[in-house]
Formats: sequence, C-alpha cells, structure tokens
Amino acid sequence: MKVYVSAPGKVTLFGEHAVVYGQPAIVASIDKRVHVYAEARSDGVITIEARDLRAPGVIVTYREGEVTVETDYGLVLPAIAYLNKAVEIVSKYLGSKHGVKLVVKSEMPVGAGLGTSAAVAVATVTAYAYSGGYELTREEIAKLGWEVEKAVQGVASPMDTSIATYGGFLKIRFSGDNVERSYLKIDNNLPILLSYVEREFRTRDMVLMVRERVSKYPHLYGRIVELIGNVVHEAEKALIEFDLSRLGELMNLNHGLLDALGVSTRRLNEVVYAARSSGALGAKLTGAGGGGCAIALSPPEKLDTVETVLRFLSDFTMRTSLGGEGIKIHIEKS
Ligand code: MEV
Repeated sequence: MKVYVSAPGKVTLFGEHAVVYGQPAIVASIDKRVHVYAEARSDGVITIEARDLRAPGVIVTYREGEVTVETDYGLVLPAIAYLNKAVEIVSKYLGSKHGVKLVVKSEMPVGAGLGTSAAVAVATVTAYAYSGGYELTREEIAKLGWEVEKAVQGVASPMDTSIATYGGFLKIRFSGDNVERSYLKIDNNLPILLSYVEREFRTRDMVLMVRERVSKYPHLYGRIVELIGNVVHEAEKALIEFDLSRLGELMNLNHGLLDALGVSTRRLNEVVYAARSSGALGAKLTGAGGGGCAIALSPPEKLDTVETVLRFLSDFTMRTSLGGEGIKIHIEKS
C-alpha cells in the first residue's frame, strides 16, 4: 500500500505566547505544505528520506552523547526526529509496528516559524498508520501529532498540530491536555504577506524567556498576556465581519504587546514598521519571535508596493492565501 499525505503550514494571526498561559489564539493554514509518502516494507526496516527541507549552511556540533545539526533556518535534525518519533508514538498507540519507507518533502523552510515541524508530525503520523492498513480520525491525528511535537521539543502547544490537521481558521485555547477548538468560517481571501528574517533564537528559548518574565513579574507581564487574550476576542469579531482596517489595527496592537513581552527583534520591527508605512493596514511578528516571520495585511491595491519594500528588508517574502485544507490523504492500493 502506498500512501500520500500532505499537511499545511500555518501563521498565527493573533495570540502567540499568550496561548501558552491559557489565552485563546487564532491560527490559519497557509498554502505551503509538507508532503509525506509512505510505503510499507515487508522486511520490518524503517527508512527515512528527507528531501527539499531547504537547509543551507550547516553547523554540526558534537557534545557528549548528542549531535546537533544547525542550518541557516534553524535545527534540521529535529525535522528528522519528528519522523522517528511519529513512527514510535503511532506504533505504541496502535500496538503494532511495521517496516516502512518514508519520504518527506517540504514547500517551506524548516525552522522559519511556519509550523513545518507540526505539519511533518501530523503527516507522518497519518502516513505511517495508513501504510500499515490502519485509519485514524482527525482528532487522533491532531492528538498524536501534538504528542510527537511535545516529545521532540519538550514544550509545545496544540496550536500548530491542530491547524496542520484541520486547516482553515481556528480559534484555539488549551489547558493541560484539554484543547478547545472553534472553527471560524471566513469565506473571503485575506491578502497576507509573509516575510522571514534570520532566526536569532529558538522557539523553546523564547517560550522559556517569557515564562521567566511572567513568573518574575506576574502583575506586569501577566497583564500583557491577558491583554493579548482580549485582542484575540476582538480580532475574532473583526475576522468574522471581515473588517480589514480593524484587523490591521489589532495586529499592530498585538505586535506592540509581543514587543513588550520581549520577543520581537530589531529586524522584525523594521519589517513590521516598513510594511505599515508602505501601505499595510497592519503588521505583526508571527510565531515565537526572536527573528523568524512577520505578517502584513495589505489592501489589494497596495500589495505590490508593500511586497517590494519587504523583499528589500527581509531574507524572503511571499504572498500567501490563508485557510486552505488541512490534512489530505491519498491511498494507492497495490
Ligand atoms: C510558536 O509558533 C507559538 C508559541 O505560542 C509557542 C506555542 O504555542 O507552542 C510561541
């Protein structure tokens, strides 16, 4: 049996970091995907081919008992670790292990904050299970994918694995293992520009830095986290009403609060401010910060100008449409 699975990357529109403290966040799938192909092997061997993970510039570090491979886009070995872990977790869940050839391809760079690892996790979970003749519900895929992310990263919210599974626009809130998801029905296409600047810090480091600040000054940083939650509630209404200028204003507010938490960088701020002054209705960093991606919401007639300016300031800039399909499964029975 040959199985082809793909899952989308994502952008966090509102609420990153605050989501870790039980506040809601709004995420949307993007039109860039990860593809995993799986074919069962009768000899019980597991092989993994990782193609197109786009990882220029490699730094290998050997520490006692640990090898890390870092690239210009972040850590690459974890991308492969997600595949390994997915096989391990799904085998345990199904109570059965089979050999498989797995091939992974990505339309997105690893480590840019676009949810590539979550897409790899959910696509591999699905491809591996189906190649062994099993089926999984979306709920199971999202749950197992989240387990893979937690096992590899140590800390992860269910945000990225949920959107990679379900696609569309999702408002999500979680506490412990309890995940609340609501689907936002947005029929219009949201014109978004996505710009990447070099990542200076890893997601885990940014999450831990915020945690330290929140626990040291709960009356200050804790308040910012709550305010971000309030922005998310307003943004949900603006999104449903498709009120672009209000959405832009709320993106600017969310960015200011993230900057106050300390997760923006000079280059991210440059991109965000340049987007606004060249015509965007709003712009903010998206994801963990510390470098990585920013998004800009632009009226269609200003899109070209904003894009030109952002291309100049960022390492890469692309247009993306939001809200595409979640996991897609294609089975070829031999
Ligand atoms: C990272 O994309 C978003 C954070 O909120 C962490 C998480 O939700 O896992 C910073």
